[in-house]
Amino acid sequence: MSLKFVSYMSSQSRIMSKKSIEDFLFEVRDKNKQLAITGILLLIQGKFVQYIEGPAEEIDKVYKSISKDKRHTEMILLDSGNLDDRQFKNWSMAYKEVNDKQIKEIVGEENLNLEDAFLSRKDNKNHPVLTVLYDFVKALSS
Ligand SMILES: Cc1cc2nc3c(=O)[nH]c(=O)nc-3n(C[C@H](O)[C@H](O)[C@H](O)COP(=O)(O)O)c2cc1C
Repeated sequence: MSLKFVSYMSSQSRIMSKKSIEDFLFEVRDKNKQLAITGILLLIQGKFVQYIEGPAEEIDKVYKSISKDKRHTEMILLDSGNLDDRQFKNWSMAYKEVNDKQIKEIVGEENLNLEDAFLSRKDNKNHPVLTVLYDFVKALSS
């Protein structure tokens, strides 16, 4: 069974309440456990930034359903590839709201120019938001 990962960014359709985020995470974690998908979701300046990993077929299917989800728009693929090993064993979906101070600590400046990425839609493999995402992946990986 081959393993794969996908990282993407999207715009929240509307600000979700704490309760609706909790309900949403409950639903996502339940489904990911069934499909052997692990990963992390960050909320950064109103954008979702997510890393998912798992069996290639399941990742392709889930990515397709995520792309149709009305809770966000404008998905931008940042990175994807094959994996020998998972980064996570225990997180069916970790969740973090990342503030500007944390961003500054990781990439040296607060302004990630996320809006620019949505406008230009190119060269996203080198976008600094990936540095932030993979810093959290590293910190939580087991
Ligand atoms: C930002 C975001 C991240 C999501 N992440 C996942 C995920 O990791 N796994 C998952 O099964 N669904 C995730 N979903 C929910 C899916 O879009 C979809 O609602 C869910 O897979 C149920 O799809 P189904 O009704 O086709 O079974 C996410 C949705 C959003 C908006």
